[in-house]
Amino acid sequence: MLMNTTTIHLAGLGCVGQGLYDLIQRRPEAGFAINRIAVKNPDKIRRAADAPLGFRPEFLFEGGAPDVIVEAIDDADTAYQMAIQALESGIPLVSANKKMLALYLSDLLALQQRTGTPLLYEAAVCGAIPILRTLSDHYSSDRIQRIEAIVNGTTNFILTQQRQHNLSYVDALGKAQELGFAESDPTNDVEGFDAAFKTILLAWQAFGVILSLDDIPRWGITTLGTADAAFAAQQGGRIRLVATLLPVGEQLVSTVLPTLVGSMHPLYGVELEGNAVALELEAAGKHVLSGPGAGAFPTASALLADLHRLRDGYRYPTPLGKTPLKKAVLNEIGLPVRLRAPEGLVEVLIPRRDRQGLTPADEDSALEGVLSLHSILRFGQDLRKAGVSLLALGAPQSLLAEEQPLLQHVSV
Ligand code: HSE
Repeated sequence: MLMNTTTIHLAGLGCVGQGLYDLIQRRPEAGFAINRIAVKNPDKIRRAADAPLGFRPEFLFEGGAPDVIVEAIDDADTAYQMAIQALESGIPLVSANKKMLALYLSDLLALQQRTGTPLLYEAAVCGAIPILRTLSDHYSSDRIQRIEAIVNGTTNFILTQQRQHNLSYVDALGKAQELGFAESDPTNDVEGFDAAFKTILLAWQAFGVILSLDDIPRWGITTLGTADAAFAAQQGGRIRLVATLLPVGEQLVSTVLPTLVGSMHPLYGVELEGNAVALELEAAGKHVLSGPGAGAFPTASALLADLHRLRDGYRYPTPLGKTPLKKAVLNEIGLPVRLRAPEGLVEVLIPRRDRQGLTPADEDSALEGVLSLHSILRFGQDLRKAGVSLLALGAPQSLLAEEQPLLQHVSV
């Protein structure tokens, strides 16, 4: 073994963990060695790995401390316990676990600060795209005016397969699962939770704001139907599950919603499991970073990049929050939307004062207009349960201003 080999204990040998294992095997010159692997299920048949396998999380911390622990499991709570033990023990951690990072972000940041042990997580957002470090290191010197992003590969894959090949939702999801894009519980993908976790991480890295899941109006793709696809096509647009982060005045607005994007929109051409982050910056202008957002090697490439950066002594700078933003007050912000529901249902599920901005669209089963983000958050669950589909048609706008829309209608 080379003198400067970096020793790794790996948690998880699923799609991403196996990807990292294979990548490291292929590149011996990089000087990384996986010496132990902790997995959950002793009965699962796995490809042979040279490193010893253990079936308890504690296995990672036995047999001498490694230089770094890489965590690529899907259970957020177990991952959090591993993270605590690693950081408390002074072992740097590289994680791909967006759910764990998003749900425990403030505790993890405090723990990192107290212990001085680095935690890197580029692989948790947008697969192979180096968005977190770019936000932290490069864009932090500018003012970010807007982020619109496709951050979930599974849903983009499903929407693409449905549009291009007329595949059913179930078949498209099955294919995404076969290819290893989907979470072990794909509800996280299709209901927009995974995208919301990633949005929390983007909000921290870009704006220094710690959001919780309850701050993000979220709608998945499960209620979208052929009528929505036909509407999008008729408008010359495409439906994307878009994560938006937008400073409005002093507030940071965040949403994860199916959105109609027009043919000139930077997210229009992003297909299959591709992800993309479109940014508008005060000085640097418009940028788009795009690439594979899910899958074994793309995600493992981001883990490997973190391993290299750790070796260089890298850690994320604390976002300074040059413009101190607050979480948005959601009843002050509205969104142009189209809701498709059986006639009369929206009237039953949303009280009159909250749906004043909505009027019947040309087509009988749809309503269009401006709905507050508060209403989307508050009534969304009942509306989704009743099968109502929602399409965002434009950018969030202040409901307080006289002259509306305050912001340009950019999405379509
Ligand atoms: N299930 C996730 C996705 C995996 O589809 O984007 C990558 O984070």
